[in-house]
Amino acid sequence: MLLPMQSKFSESKPGAEWWRSAVIYQIYPRSFADGNGDGIGDIPGITSRLDALAELGIDAIWCSPLTKSPQKDAGYDVSDYRDIEPLFGTLGDFDELVQKAGERGIRIIMDLVPNHSSEEHIWFQEALASEPGSAARNRYMFRDGKGETGQLPPNNWESVFGGVAWTRITEKDGNPGQWYLHMFDKSQPDFNWENEEVKAEFDSVLRFWLDRGAAGFRIDVAHGLVKAEGLPDVVSNDTTMAGEDANKPADELTPHPFWGQEGVHEINRRWRKVLDEYDDRAMCAEAWVMPLSKMATWVRSDEYHQTFNFAFLETKWNRDKMKAVINESIAEFSNVGAPPTWVLSNHDVIRHTTRLSYDQVPKQGDGIGPDYAQPDEALGLKRGRAASAMMLGLPGGAYIYQGEELGLPEHTTLDGSVRQDPTYFRTNGERVGRDGCRVPIPWSATESAFGFSSTGNSWLPQPDAFSNYARSSQKGKPGSTLELYKSLLALRKDNELGHGSLEWKNDLVPQGAFAYKNGSVLVVVNFTNQPFALPDGELLITTQWGLETKGELEADQVAWISA
Ligand code: NOJ
Ligand code: CA
Repeated sequence: MLLPMQSKFSESKPGAEWWRSAVIYQIYPRSFADGNGDGIGDIPGITSRLDALAELGIDAIWCSPLTKSPQKDAGYDVSDYRDIEPLFGTLGDFDELVQKAGERGIRIIMDLVPNHSSEEHIWFQEALASEPGSAARNRYMFRDGKGETGQLPPNNWESVFGGVAWTRITEKDGNPGQWYLHMFDKSQPDFNWENEEVKAEFDSVLRFWLDRGAAGFRIDVAHGLVKAEGLPDVVSNDTTMAGEDANKPADELTPHPFWGQEGVHEINRRWRKVLDEYDDRAMCAEAWVMPLSKMATWVRSDEYHQTFNFAFLETKWNRDKMKAVINESIAEFSNVGAPPTWVLSNHDVIRHTTRLSYDQVPKQGDGIGPDYAQPDEALGLKRGRAASAMMLGLPGGAYIYQGEELGLPEHTTLDGSVRQDPTYFRTNGERVGRDGCRVPIPWSATESAFGFSSTGNSWLPQPDAFSNYARSSQKGKPGSTLELYKSLLALRKDNELGHGSLEWKNDLVPQGAFAYKNGSVLVVVNFTNQPFALPDGELLITTQWGLETKGELEADQVAWISA
């Protein structure tokens, strides 16, 4: 097995714990780069493009699931946790990726999916073939149905992807039998996290990838593993992963039977102990728990290293709301000694370059289709770039989703016939789902499939507009989004902003805008609709073309100033 060359990894301060300040780039493997021309991105494709990521200046890559999977939910349905999905390559390809990334000082973070497996996982197949009440069934959430003949689901829970969260099986004797729980697609049965065998299995899976050189894990649906005893009905069936109470204060929350149960913290601690057996590894929770005071309990010193800041991601382009969520995040995370971890886009949400052009967007995970009011692309791009420049000056860690460094918009006109997200099918097209943010990214304006694949194949069609966003046309071009990101990341690293702290300097800007200082960098954000003169200091970088000569920062633009 090949191990990364640790010495290449940047560590700005001794013992600084790289993840505290890291910029982590999310790769959605199907859509990053296709190495063999079948139209689906793969590991050799990723490895061949590492130089582009090294140039961008990231510290680590998180790959959405690479593990073996029938791909009913694009890899979030794992059939073998210790092998690589053949569509993406082999374990050897993975080792090579870890090695080559390591040579460039880039760590590789795996995506672990512990809430559910694929229906094709050997354990689930065993469960189906076994008797009710058997040890094999007890690894998953099987229950008898309600009603005279057990014909009704055991409770009223709904799948995040729409429809009932239970599926009834046919027993070996050919009769309708028990039901199993699946919080997502019916091909994704939920594990029983009260079961010791399940716990031991995942300890072992963690070690498997850590031994292979993974720098850590992004943990899928980390807040959903434990279900309330007795599986009580849910009071409201909001299907977002945060639940409908997302914005209420902690003491007003209705206890939710499957999101954010207290029992999950024990699992968090168990995994932290496993990671602590190794040097320098980290795990980040996908935990849609609100408010931030509750989310912060996930990153206490013996639990996760990081958790995605979804409160920040879901904040509108509004000065007061942004300021409040930044303040609250920094305060709550520092209460427990953890860094905040900022994020604006990922493979489940509408790309922020599109999202921020709207006052109101569909609920998380629902997506935008051709029937929805179409976005103002120019406004979205302007605000998207501004939001990124605002975010990358903040102390803590940051996540970037592939393509956002190109300013890529959501594909909002995908036809139903090409959609693949289970959400679309489980809601009969009512919620179009997440395909629009998962379209293969453009590398070249002139090549077939915009350089994603040498054959021109692409598992989702790319819109023509992607030619305007191709990496080749932005590389080296002053003012392009790609060059903006490179400069932001370089300045962030040189000034150690990830390790810094935030001080508001709002007296330097007009009301309605904001400015904060991190070290010697002043970040000025114009949320107003009027230009204003920049505060004194050397201009380091700006989202605004021609600001140097104009001297006034326009609406929805950001400047970093040395002050
Ligand atoms: C969250 C993942 O990010 C999403 O893509 C997936 O569909 C669900 N979890 C289920 O695993
Ligand atoms: Ca491929």
